[in-house]
Amino acid sequence: MRSKAAWLQKWGAVMPDAGIRAGILGLGTYVPEKILTNEELEKMVDTSDQWIVSRTGIRERRLAGPGQATSDLALEAAGRALADAGLEPGEIDLIIVSTNTPDSLFPAAACIVQDRLGAVNAGAFDLLAGCTGFLYGLSVAQGFVVSGMYKKVLVIGAETLSRIVDWEDRNTCVLFGDGAGAAVVGPVSGGYGLIHTRLGADGSGGQHLCVPAGGSRIPASRETVEQRLHYARMNGREVFKFAVRACGDGSLEALAAAGLTVKDVDFLIPHQANIRIIEAAAKRLELPMEKVLVNVDRFGNTSTASIPMALEEAYSQGRIKDGDNILMAAFGAGLTWAVAIMRWHDYRRKNR
Ligand SMILES: CC(C)(COP(=O)(O)OP(=O)(O)OC[C@H]1O[C@@H](n2cnc3c(N)ncnc32)[C@H](O)[C@@H]1OP(=O)(O)O)[C@@H](O)C(=O)NCCC(=O)NCCS
Repeated sequence: MRSKAAWLQKWGAVMPDAGIRAGILGLGTYVPEKILTNEELEKMVDTSDQWIVSRTGIRERRLAGPGQATSDLALEAAGRALADAGLEPGEIDLIIVSTNTPDSLFPAAACIVQDRLGAVNAGAFDLLAGCTGFLYGLSVAQGFVVSGMYKKVLVIGAETLSRIVDWEDRNTCVLFGDGAGAAVVGPVSGGYGLIHTRLGADGSGGQHLCVPAGGSRIPASRETVEQRLHYARMNGREVFKFAVRACGDGSLEALAAAGLTVKDVDFLIPHQANIRIIEAAAKRLELPMEKVLVNVDRFGNTSTASIPMALEEAYSQGRIKDGDNILMAAFGAGLTWAVAIMRWHDYRRKNR
């Protein structure tokens, strides 16, 4: 009788390699030039720098320029990630753009990036999982890479949240910013790469963070625009509670599933929504803040872009070293949450 391996080979199926994990081979980020400070926001809505800093930790955020759409930000970050990985666009097998703010309902922002990047051999789709989207994208890429189906997957988190924020609503407009972060994901060996990813959702909380109109339930109309239903709505307190639970308990569950403990964690990269959520999650994990990467003060909540932006910054600054265990935790609209644990592979040193 034929062995299973021979059978799979005969029928063209792909044999996963047990020693291979999915790891990051290149990183790139992009933020628009325009900075919006808390002082400027004081002139737009009834708020204060003191309130924003004490309740969120945010001091400033970036805003896309006129005519700049999500795919424009994604393309910049993608180009930088490819250069960092030393790859040509034609070597990319798949492009995933995780976003809540695609250029339009369709086509996907990923297809626009695919075309403009010249990634002629890549499939492309958008992924919608709230601010958790980058970790969802990483997990999807992991599946393709570990199965052996694809060798190079470009995962991009990109947002122009400034376009769906109600600039008359002080509850939300102070929180968000625009930006993009991209990662080339491919096979790595030697114990590096993604050790574990865990995805979660609680759709019963969907109404706590949503854009009510503009889809098939409430199509855009003069009335929806007049009622400002095409802007993001949020129940901040409910999202806050969910976020602390998801980041804290979700991380502990993921660590246990990976056979690790908090002591094994070198860095936590939480989704950058609010410094109080980040501090509460770190406390729940009993992790000192020196091990927590924070950029929410300078960029606000950039949704799917926040984790790759924080990761790239810390790696470029030399904070993250070869073999470090990185815990990434995110939450967002859906409601969704996800955790990814990765052993860092210092590809820049090895590529030199
Ligand atoms: C939004 C958030 C910062 C509000 O902080 P909070 O401490 O929970 O504040 P509250 O909601 O209790 O509001 C307190 C008061 O501040 C007011 N307030 C809200 N935004 C304000 C602002 N920008 N400036 C001044 N006052 C503001 C509220 O109107 C409220 O006033 P009231 O008591 O008179 O009604 C916080 O709930 C949060 O970060 N939630 C999570 C949001 C999030 O991360 N979303 C994205 C998920 S991906």
